[in-house]
Amino acid sequence: MIKDKVVTYFKENYSQNPLIIKAPGRVNIIGEHTDYNLGFVLPASIEKAIYFAAQTNNTDTINIEAFLTFKEKVSFDLKGQNEDFSAFWGKYFKAIIQILNEKNYTLKGIDCVFGGDIPIGSGLSSSAALCCGFTYAVSNLLGLDISRTEIALIAQAAEHKIGLNCGLMDQYAVLFGKKGNALFLDCKDLQHKYVPINLDGYSWLLINSNVKHELAVGNEYNDRRNSCEAIVNKIKESNDTVASLRDVSKEALEKVKDFVDPVDYKRSIYIIMENKRVERMITALGDGNASEVGKILLEGHRSMSQDFEISTSEIDYLVNVSQEQDGVLGSRMMGGGFGGCTINLIKTEHLESAQSAIETAYKKETGIEAECFHLEIDDSVKILNA
Ligand code: GLA
Repeated sequence: MIKDKVVTYFKENYSQNPLIIKAPGRVNIIGEHTDYNLGFVLPASIEKAIYFAAQTNNTDTINIEAFLTFKEKVSFDLKGQNEDFSAFWGKYFKAIIQILNEKNYTLKGIDCVFGGDIPIGSGLSSSAALCCGFTYAVSNLLGLDISRTEIALIAQAAEHKIGLNCGLMDQYAVLFGKKGNALFLDCKDLQHKYVPINLDGYSWLLINSNVKHELAVGNEYNDRRNSCEAIVNKIKESNDTVASLRDVSKEALEKVKDFVDPVDYKRSIYIIMENKRVERMITALGDGNASEVGKILLEGHRSMSQDFEISTSEIDYLVNVSQEQDGVLGSRMMGGGFGGCTINLIKTEHLESAQSAIETAYKKETGIEAECFHLEIDDSVKILNA
């Protein structure tokens, strides 16, 4: 088990009594790119996670080490300065340490080893797990008492520092998720409630396309955000009560259609309808209406692909071929876009046959091996040896 490997490695190389923390990844049932538009999202924290073993070290150095796939150790001083590193993850820790300093938290030396099983660049938010998990570890080790809401904001600020102007969905899912439930979050006031997603006789399957467009996502992601903000700014010219696309109806958008960039217009339609899809999804789940759930997933994907333009040919193929299988009710890409996993609702009796047909067809079409796993919803970030 990864957790045991992380703890054993820590004990062998650092000290005997680490704090052990599990920070989950997340899925999103629906509500993509709606978070930074202050709309609705429906994510859930999952069993796949990053594990941390950490303890104070009575020095002025924060040592972070990963060893599972690539072994690398990065050391920071208490202000977040460091020697050069090549580990892609180093920049997240650096950003967190610097933000904690900017917020006047007093830091001390720490040793930290981490490792996990969230596939990177798969739309399952490994970076939110990393940032939230590390901040939670530091807060607990140093008695800083940082609230979960504040940890979410710190982790989001770290992403912004690195260049992704993300919303708060991922961080909230990691920090407030609950076993067996999805988390309905209103990103305007950050109120949330839990929504059970069990549909009797149906299974949720995640399919990793193994297409990673990490670099594209940064620019393309921020570009989508800029489109949404451009529309809001245009509408604000005649209505200054509008703060985000959350406050914009389809009718209000129609009124400015001829005066805005058509691409921005199309993207904003997607966001307005995606918020409605989240609301429709909650009703469908509450009613146990699996076919409606599937329909909403598919509608969401089509609009993400055609209007918001964040899909890829491989992902579209994966969604289409899934749709052709007996027992598949719906399918959509999850996360920031341009690769990663699809989430699929499948009649349990057809699960195995659908899965193997999809894997075979996808390999034949793209030459890429897809990876399937079943959705297991777990609790939010927690200390395992409290
Ligand atoms: C990334 C971001 C989130 C959210 C999703 C898309 O995961 O970090 O804030 O915008 O993309 O829904």
